Amino acid sequence: MKTQLTDLNSIEKILQEMTVEEKARMVIGGAPFHTEAMPEYGIPAMYMLDSCNGLNSLEYAGEAVYQELAAQAEAAGQPLDREKNGYMGGLLIALGTLKKRAAQQAQSGAAPSPKPFGCYPPGIALGSTWNPEVVEACGHELAKEMSSYGIDMILGPNVNIHRDPLCGRLGESFTEDPYLMSQLAPAMVRGIQAEGVTACPKHFAANNQEKDRMGVNEHVSERALREIYFPGFKACVDAGCKTVMSAYNQLNGTPSAMNGWLLTDILRKEWGFGGFVVSDWGAAYEQIATIAAGNDLTMPGPRGIQCIVEAVENGTLPLEKLDACVRNVLKVVAWSTAMTGKRPAFDRARSLEVMEEALREGMILLKNDGTLPLTTGCDVAFYGKRSKAPTICPAGSSNVSTDLTTNAYDRAAELLGAGHVTFGEATGRTNTWIAVVGCDGREGADRDSLAMDADDAQALETAIAEAQAAGGKVVVVINATGPIDLNPYEGRVNAILCPFFAGIQGGKVAADAIFGQFNPSGKLAMTWPKHYYDCPSYKNFGGEKQEVWYGEGIYVGYRWYDARHIEPAYPFGYGLSYTSFAITGVSVEDGINMDKAPVKVNVTVKNTGSLPGSEVVQVYVRDVECAFDRPEKELKGFQKVSLQPGEERTVTLELDKAAFSGYYMEFGEWIAQPGEFDILVGTSSRDIAAERRITVRCKDPFGISFRSSIGAIAKCPQAVEIINRVIDEDILALAHVALEFAPDKSLEELWNGTNIQGALVKKGWDGGRITKAHQEIEASFDEMR
Ligand code: BGC
Repeated sequence: MKTQLTDLNSIEKILQEMTVEEKARMVIGGAPFHTEAMPEYGIPAMYMLDSCNGLNSLEYAGEAVYQELAAQAEAAGQPLDREKNGYMGGLLIALGTLKKRAAQQAQSGAAPSPKPFGCYPPGIALGSTWNPEVVEACGHELAKEMSSYGIDMILGPNVNIHRDPLCGRLGESFTEDPYLMSQLAPAMVRGIQAEGVTACPKHFAANNQEKDRMGVNEHVSERALREIYFPGFKACVDAGCKTVMSAYNQLNGTPSAMNGWLLTDILRKEWGFGGFVVSDWGAAYEQIATIAAGNDLTMPGPRGIQCIVEAVENGTLPLEKLDACVRNVLKVVAWSTAMTGKRPAFDRARSLEVMEEALREGMILLKNDGTLPLTTGCDVAFYGKRSKAPTICPAGSSNVSTDLTTNAYDRAAELLGAGHVTFGEATGRTNTWIAVVGCDGREGADRDSLAMDADDAQALETAIAEAQAAGGKVVVVINATGPIDLNPYEGRVNAILCPFFAGIQGGKVAADAIFGQFNPSGKLAMTWPKHYYDCPSYKNFGGEKQEVWYGEGIYVGYRWYDARHIEPAYPFGYGLSYTSFAITGVSVEDGINMDKAPVKVNVTVKNTGSLPGSEVVQVYVRDVECAFDRPEKELKGFQKVSLQPGEERTVTLELDKAAFSGYYMEFGEWIAQPGEFDILVGTSSRDIAAERRITVRCKDPFGISFRSSIGAIAKCPQAVEIINRVIDEDILALAHVALEFAPDKSLEELWNGTNIQGALVKKGWDGGRITKAHQEIEASFDEMR
């Protein structure tokens, strides 16, 4: 009998027993959304499906159809031939059959079956919560629901930064800011994985547009990758995500799934990722290069494995590389619910509560002249198709097709009584016109402009005209994938509420906000531009001939608007409340040695209005003087505080060394320089209530260190003394020795061109001895500081 998959030890034995062909089957999916099962080794197939806002019923049905076709072919003695499938595996066969069947069903007039799937708030709605707890709670519920359909792994969260507001998939992801991303995306991962379901942060990396999505070459500086596009992924790895999805796009000339620097050097060696990397569906353009780069699993399956077997046989693919992929896949399979069978219980009522809680936290009030909240004694007229049929999520793999949706119109009728609510027309009693407007967003295509749908714009114009004529008020609700152009309307309406796409409870919760059932506390997780031409990636988005240059570098989102002094329509971090808040006190510790302790920021915030509500205290850091170019300010801490009217509370936020660091290309390292920093505390990136200048201490990356030139060290007698003690020699005399090797140099030149390491190498010390000396010297330098 063959070894059965149980634990890590069993995997090593299985690797010894498996044939190359079996190994090849393990790294290529066995079906469009399953890994390959190998019952002889006790290896179950793992079921992976989209997405982070609910079950994608098209994929779900497609997978069932594929399994059915495969079983039928098997029974007929003519198994489907995987070698004939292209890079899309069995997916196109499944979707094609599904389409035919749907057409037949439509023709037969048979009623479609109910679609009882939950659609959770998509990334953009969760980004607006600025509340990791509710994001994590959504992760739990989503995992429980998906698991109830037999899903073992959720293809999300989408951790791609909001680089450009027109990106088709903007609505799937959380934010433009890497710090906020690093707090929210891991919360989703933790929630999902706590239920035993595997999470899959995607799409690694710099997958920021849909134009030419298969193979577009994104030219991104390493600094921008490190500071902007990577941190969310790294935070998910730190949170223990079991898998990561590589992207369709090329990164600096190499497709992500074939990019060894990205998948092996950064992800595994630098960040210590121990799970498996799955290709995006169809992104493994060349299978052998994919395996060699460290992309462990190619999806969708099944596709040919013969090329892998041949590559191992002819030596073009080292067996160890294939083994490493199999090992990584099996480690996760062994952990997964496919193996344990331990599926959590799912409770719909609880999941609806959690969705609603998240939506209340993420509902953004963009404008309010006092019109909102409406009292329940008023009469309202709804305009715009989205009042009754809001878009609940992005189209594409994140699409959730369901019968469970709510809408603002119905909820208003419930709260006010049907006689006080109309749609598309006003009555003599109508005093408030509510227009629900927006635009959709989808995988596969970017938006052309920031415009809302033409019929929505028309509906809004009608609402404004009628309200003006009747002396009524206009409330706008935005049901969109991201920012839309509000310039023509902003000054003519009384209030604007923005839930974006908000899942099945979005319509209900939007109406609840309008009628004061709760107090909105959402904050924009991206900058809302006044004009598209203000955006950082304007003219650098989409690209030509599949080439895109990220010319804005690290200046993404508010970093750009700050640097260029551009006034946005609404800044990053912005959102109003039905109550008011004041930041009444800010104290920041001064003179802290960041190498030893974080800097504590105490902020006192008071609810100065008459309703309970929540405010997000935001802490931004500015490096006053830096050896290299840095943004005007960067978000490095935030906390949401709920307060009763009149209540005041002091919260403490901690800024560790990372909050003061930037990625310094010259050293290829994150560095923080000791010196002055400004700590900016506010309620948006442009509403800064208090600013404190502090001095922080830490090891100076440019100061005396092991890599300083001997010339620099010679000026510091204390440093010379330390070095001499550790190496038991006179470092200055050593420099003289070095002169013998470079007789054409003056001692002065040599001092400045040689560091301690260089001098010791010249003296013949080996690596181990040098490292030991290095450590001792650095430790003594630390004490000297
Ligand atoms: C999308 C992924 C998705 C995958 C599987 C791809 O087209 O880019 O986000 O998870 O399909 O459906």
